[in-house]
Amino acid sequence: EKYKVVIPAAGQGKRMKAGKNKQFLLLDQVPLLIHTILVFEEDILCDGIILVINKDEFDDVKQLLLEFGIKKVEKLVVGGKERQQSVYEGLKSIEGDPIVLVHDGARPFIQIDKIHKLVSAFIKNGSATIGTPVKDTIKEVVDGKATKTVDRSRLWAIQTPQAFRHSQIYRAHQTAESNNYFGTDDASIMEYIGESVYIVEGDYENIKITTPEDLLFGEAIIGKRKGEFK
Ligand code: CTP
Ligand code: MG
Repeated sequence: EKYKVVIPAAGQGKRMKAGKNKQFLLLDQVPLLIHTILVFEEDILCDGIILVINKDEFDDVKQLLLEFGIKKVEKLVVGGKERQQSVYEGLKSIEGDPIVLVHDGARPFIQIDKIHKLVSAFIKNGSATIGTPVKDTIKEVVDGKATKTVDRSRLWAIQTPQAFRHSQIYRAHQTAESNNYFGTDDASIMEYIGESVYIVEGDYENIKITTPEDLLFGEAIIGKRKGEFK
């Protein structure tokens, strides 16, 4: 079964401090967002990309899609104030009840084998997300003092993509919106309506480009993939 992917790309990129939406920054001469889109463009299981963007970036995005020969973007949807609202807008535009993946525009290093692992897990178990075991020791801090160390073996850092049945994630978003619930990812929206989400182990290269040093890490990941160092 094929899937549609909603790519929220309607942020401001404030933490990047680049003076523009970070998704237009170049990594190896290609805009960050285009790197992300190209992965799905090349995935045979993907049969449509719903790209959620800022209203005033419409023309720039259209131009880039043309320039890079991208054919799978079937809809350009205007996003909302928060990521959650942007994803919801994307979901509203989907007809039928396909498998829907949600993937951050700012995660250009996702690889097709992980996407397929996620889709298989979805077909077997239902809603699923990519994540990695946490490497750091995580403590709860109150008033500058560590009060508790959480058992790390139970902690996972959650990434995207995340996979859902359209009707389910749509209903979850509807409920979240009408109750004013805001979650930081779509899996938490499912959890909010009482559904559990399976975890599929991904890798540490699937970073979200968020702060300036992430661009350096990104260049390193590209260098590694080109075989520039071992
Ligand atoms: N996003 C979106 N709509 C929003 C906010 C975020 O579609 N209202 C998208 C971003 O474009 C990004 C992804 O959601 O691809 C993850 O968000 P994040 O990394 O936080 O990006 P920004 O919100 O752009 O960055 P910042 O929080 O630093 O401003
Ligand atoms: Mg943000």
